[in-house]
Amino acid sequence: MQITIVNDYDELSQAAAAHVMRVLRDRPTPQVVLPTGNTPLGMYHLLRTEWQAGRTDLSQARFFALDELWPLPEGHPATFAATLRRLLIDHGPVGHFDHLRSHAADPEVECHRYAEALGGGIDLAVVGIGRNGHIGYNEPRTDMRAPCQKVELTAQSRLSAKAYFPDLEPPEFGLTIGMGLIMAARSVLLLASGAEKAEVLAQAVTGPVTPSLPASLLQEHPGLIIVADRSAASLLPSA
Ligand code: F6R
Repeated sequence: MQITIVNDYDELSQAAAAHVMRVLRDRPTPQVVLPTGNTPLGMYHLLRTEWQAGRTDLSQARFFALDELWPLPEGHPATFAATLRRLLIDHGPVGHFDHLRSHAADPEVECHRYAEALGGGIDLAVVGIGRNGHIGYNEPRTDMRAPCQKVELTAQSRLSAKAYFPDLEPPEFGLTIGMGLIMAARSVLLLASGAEKAEVLAQAVTGPVTPSLPASLLQEHPGLIIVADRSAASLLPSA
C-alpha cells in the first residue's frame, strides 16, 4: 500500500489526475474504472482540461463507470452514466465507455454482462470511500467476492443520490462492480478528502479486514494507492 498525503483538495485532484494520465499513457488499451461523488470532481476538471487541449490520445482508452442507481430510466440525468458523460466522457474522443444499465430489466443479467465486458481486467480502479466504508455501492456486509452485484442502498447512499437532484426519489438499489473485480484490478486509486472521512479512512487502513467495512479489504490489494488530503489523513498513524 502506498499512501500519499497532500495538503489540500487541489493537490489531491492534481495527484489523482496525474496518476490517471500515467496509466492512460503507459498501457496500450487501458481499462479504467471511474466513480462519481464529490471527491473526484477536481480530478475530472483537470482531466477535461487536459483532453480539451488534445494532449492525450484517448482513442484506445476504455472507461467503465464504477456503479449505478437502479432502477432509473435510460439517460436520466441522475444516472451515474449521465453524470460521468457530463463530467468527462463527452469532453474528449474517448475510445470506449460502458456502464451498468440503470434501466436493465434484469439486474443479475446486467451484472453478468458488465463483468464479462470487464473481462480483459481493470488496469486502474479509481474509487472514493463512503462514510460507512463502502466502495462503489458495496455496502457493509454485502458479498465481498462478487464480481458485480445488485445491492440495497443504505439511507445515507439514497440521500447522497439526491444531492444534485433534490426532486429525485432515489431508487432503493444500486448496481456496482463488486469487491471481487476491484480486488483483481492491477491497481486501485483510493481518494479521500475532508475531515468527515478521517475516521473511516483510519479504520480502513489500520483496522481489521472485515466485510463490515468494505474498504478494509483493500489493505490486501498489492497495488493500492491512497491519496488523501491532510484533513482526511489526520487520524492515520503517519499523519
Ligand atoms: C460513487 C461511489 C461512492 C463514492 C463514495 C464517496 O460512484 O461509488 O462509493 O465514491 O460514496 O462519495 P464522495 O466522494 O461524494 O464523498
